[in-house]
Amino acid sequence: MRLGLLASGRGSNVEAILTAIHDGRLDAQPVVLICDRAGAPALEVARRHIVPAELIERASYATREAWSTAIRDCLLANRVDEVALAGFAAILDPVVVDAFEGRILNIHPSLLPAFAGSVAPEPQAAALREGVRSSGCTVHIVTNDVDAGPIVAQAAVPVLRDETVESLSARILVEEHRLYPEVLQWVAEGRVRIAGTEAF
Ligand code: GRF
Repeated sequence: MRLGLLASGRGSNVEAILTAIHDGRLDAQPVVLICDRAGAPALEVARRHIVPAELIERASYATREAWSTAIRDCLLANRVDEVALAGFAAILDPVVVDAFEGRILNIHPSLLPAFAGSVAPEPQAAALREGVRSSGCTVHIVTNDVDAGPIVAQAAVPVLRDETVESLSARILVEEHRLYPEVLQWVAEGRVRIAGTEAF
């Protein structure tokens, strides 16, 4: 499975995925990391793991569609089979989503559909504001409806007394780093498919 990664920031999920590949827990070939922010630590993570990194900044393109087309063309040129959004903080245009229909995964730091439509740390902050007793993370297939594609897996984390956004985010992140490589391995084994909405 030729894997393309998209990231915007810190890159800890990129690190977790590349480490899982290195350790033999994830049978994938990381062929490119695309980053939309100059200076993002995720670029350095890719370089450390000897994964080709491409900077494709939104500001360099007149429209979101033109920018997304550049991302799509980069993924196609690298013959990517599966795309993992790993802390990618922008919304992809349908030009990418449609070209890789059903083959783009995202990780979101809440139990979707709760606290959809914003980027970290807002979902964690919203969980605290709303007083939920559990939050967590979700790996889902990306569709053109933001944070609303089919859910593949979730991990729940209790919200503790005296919790802060930082402490909750840190415990959710531990689960993200465990769950995302695991789900990607299911994809590599051909075990993930969209089977409809009926109960199983
Ligand atoms: C993670 O919490 C992820 O769920 C969300 O953005 C954050 C990115 O962190 N989409 P990192 O860049 O992977 O460290």
